[in-house]
Amino acid sequence: MCQETERQYYYMDRARQHVQALTQQLGRIPTCCVTTFGCQMNARDSEKLAGILRRVGYEVTETEDADFVIFNTCTVRDNANQRVYGRLGELKSRKKHNPAMKIALCGCMMQEPAVIEKLRSSYRFVDLVFGTHNIFKFAELLCRSFEEQGMIVDIWEDTDQIVEDLPVERKYPFKSGINIMFGCNNFCSYCIVPYVRGRERSREPMEILREIRQLVAEGVVEVMLLGQNVNSYGKNLENPISFAQLLREVEQIEGLERIRFMTSHPKDLSEELIQVMKESKKICRHLHLPLQSGSTRILERMNRRYTKEQYLALAEKIRREIPDIAITTDIIVGFPGETMEDVEETIDVIRRVKYDNAFTFIYSKRTGTPAAAMENQVPQDQVKEGFDRVLKVVQDTAREQVARYQGQRAQVLVEEVNTQDERLLTGRMSNNTLVHFPGPPELVGRIVTVLLEECQGFYYMGHMVSEKSLAKSL
Ligand code: 5AD
Ligand code: SF4
Repeated sequence: MCQETERQYYYMDRARQHVQALTQQLGRIPTCCVTTFGCQMNARDSEKLAGILRRVGYEVTETEDADFVIFNTCTVRDNANQRVYGRLGELKSRKKHNPAMKIALCGCMMQEPAVIEKLRSSYRFVDLVFGTHNIFKFAELLCRSFEEQGMIVDIWEDTDQIVEDLPVERKYPFKSGINIMFGCNNFCSYCIVPYVRGRERSREPMEILREIRQLVAEGVVEVMLLGQNVNSYGKNLENPISFAQLLREVEQIEGLERIRFMTSHPKDLSEELIQVMKESKKICRHLHLPLQSGSTRILERMNRRYTKEQYLALAEKIRREIPDIAITTDIIVGFPGETMEDVEETIDVIRRVKYDNAFTFIYSKRTGTPAAAMENQVPQDQVKEGFDRVLKVVQDTAREQVARYQGQRAQVLVEEVNTQDERLLTGRMSNNTLVHFPGPPELVGRIVTVLLEECQGFYYMGHMVSEKSLAKSL
């Protein structure tokens, strides 16, 4: 165990004593709630926060009516920030009714100096604030918040540390995210991530494989390898290794059934990766390949380092090599200087690639990024018009794409009992499409074979044909 991990376990023991005292004071076990904003990386970080909270003696709940509430924040678009401020207002009134309540904030938004200033001046009721680089110190900071008065703020500018082996409280027993790298070096001109998540750092392959083997031993059948740009994984390690090579190793792990990953930057997607995916029995038939814009002129201003033609050629090659793959994407509308002709170029790419799903975002100006200083910010009404046009095409192609498997059999990992109708189970196909079908709750966590009877827009209704995963199915 590394020295830092040991230190944090020491603080967990110490925090446990504080929580025991609180338990006596309250006459019940104190509750905690971790609320996640933003991406899968944040979701994974939240599992680590919850793991520590449980270990020190809190009961983990889903409601913010708890004794310890932590918001793990996102700042990729301004509306994420606004939501945090709104929800903080609600917490303030809860704290009035529960003076023992503690409120903590962490994550990407905290790496912005303007946010910290605002918290210090207008949100004095917050107890603890930390950022993305020192999240591994949560146990230590939690102790400090029991031992010191006033708001504790600890924000680091950057770090090269990767601290392994801290407790994790997984949301699902049968699937899990795994960080394979942290940070981003791409500096797309609109994006704040490189500033708040720091430089790219890859974990050692041995550590990743060890963690996955452990998860499989605990019953996990599907892993999602997480990084801002997984295609550049391993380049800066002492013994460099490619992402495709890492996947080959992960594939060997016995008992592991499915491998997913995200996100892929098109500029770094290698031929080797396509081949590994093609040959693999475990890598899911899904690739998230953010386009951002279909206009070469805008892509250049975004610093994406590919052209429309290069992207199209890549998508075509992937579709040719792996015909049953689903390709999904991210699109930004309203980047500075974007005209309706540029939006048409984006729509042209959507029609040609035929995305299985796409997340469409309105450009959000992020202070400190190069795009924020660009002239020609696009007027609101033009952005709205472009956004609606893009969304319509995205929905049309996605509906067509999803429907192409009607009548076939698919392997479905059952994820939960349907939230609307408890006679149904809900699961995902390898290509990430949702499927609902009648079945007993005991099947949650299992891979079963389902006949895809009826496509209803973006998901299927089906019937289970076997409680096993059959080789002759999607
Ligand atoms: N405005 C709008 N969308 C953005 N994204 C990143 N930065 C911004 C921004 N400033 C989108 C990109 C990225 C996704 C995670 O968020 O499409 O792929
Ligand atoms: Fe942001 Fe670009 Fe890095 Fe993705 S690759 S996190 S969009 S800078």
